[in-house]
Amino acid sequence: MNLANDILLDVRDLQTQFQTDDSVLKAVDHVSFSVKRGETVGIVGESGCGKSVTAKSIIQTLPFPKAKIAGGEILYQRNDKVINLAELDPRGSAMRSIRGNEISMIFQEPMTSLNPVYTIGTQIIETIRLHQKVTKRQAREQAIEMLDKVGISAPSRRVDQYPHEFSGGMRQRAMIAMALSCRPNLLIADEPTTALDVTVEAQILNLIMDLQHEMGMSMIMITHDLGVIAGVSNRVVVMYSGWVVEQGPVKEIFAAPKHPYTRGLLASIPQIGEERSLVPITGTVPTLQSLSEGWCYFAPRCPHADDRCANFEPDSYQISEEHTVKCWLYAEKESMI
Ligand SMILES: Nc1ncnc2c1ncn2[C@@H]1O[C@H](COP(=O)(O)OP(=O)(O)O)[C@@H](O)[C@H]1O
Ligand SMILES: [Mg+2]
Repeated sequence: MNLANDILLDVRDLQTQFQTDDSVLKAVDHVSFSVKRGETVGIVGESGCGKSVTAKSIIQTLPFPKAKIAGGEILYQRNDKVINLAELDPRGSAMRSIRGNEISMIFQEPMTSLNPVYTIGTQIIETIRLHQKVTKRQAREQAIEMLDKVGISAPSRRVDQYPHEFSGGMRQRAMIAMALSCRPNLLIADEPTTALDVTVEAQILNLIMDLQHEMGMSMIMITHDLGVIAGVSNRVVVMYSGWVVEQGPVKEIFAAPKHPYTRGLLASIPQIGEERSLVPITGTVPTLQSLSEGWCYFAPRCPHADDRCANFEPDSYQISEEHTVKCWLYAEKESMI
């Protein structure tokens, strides 16, 4: 396996499924995208589109064996060696040395990574000592430094406090401190600011970007809000019902969105100084149970849908070198049915 030098992660044709009593749910369906060294890729889509399952597939924290990576590859370039993360044992030593060390994840709800019964300091120190050969005292100093870096005031006092003594925004900062204390190559941020108010959200996003530049790490920023992507990412992957419906450079997609779903997401971002009221996309994301093959899953909500969309799955069409869209509107005349 070979990857171009500048590619850190290459997800190819990923299929992640859940086995239920009577069916197989395709939560992530033939998803492909790559992350270059030092860049930020945004993954956007409404709730239930498969964003978190994609992230959890990468670090293998899905509820196995109910969940299964049924196909595809997750290629990770480590010191000039390419590893397929999809083939690693989720509990094996190789995956454990990558997860939370080389690839770190932060979540919407900090209490999923913070343990309420230990002090913030104890938890960060433990993370540091798991990955570096340092004394307890050195790790404590690093933890305080990290808390200071993420903007927590009086860090040498705060380090001995428990998560419940922190406000929501502070807990989010503490979780970021913990995720970054191992200096990962890739940070996956899964809706890290969704639960926060707009001012704190802007502060946290700026903080993440500053630390990213300082550490030179790559990032996957997951959000349901295209507005967040604009300020943060170089490229964007738009997901709908487990599919990548559009992906490409952020500038290009914001200037000329192609997929009707991307257009709908863009139309629902508030524009500063604009009187125009927001236009939400009508309808909701279908449940996985309701999906059978052979149609465009967005068709029921799409203003352009016709018979073809209701009866045949669209291919992904190339708009420019890095820009693709999975929609019949862009099919070549020859491939039209
Ligand atoms: N453990 C699970 N068992 C069955 N279905 C699941 C499980 N986890 C997630 N799903 C389904 O997978 C789909 C994608 O979920 P998710 O990736 O969490 O969406 P989001 O884009 O909001 O992050 C959803 O339809 C969800 O119901
Ligand atoms: Mg999610």
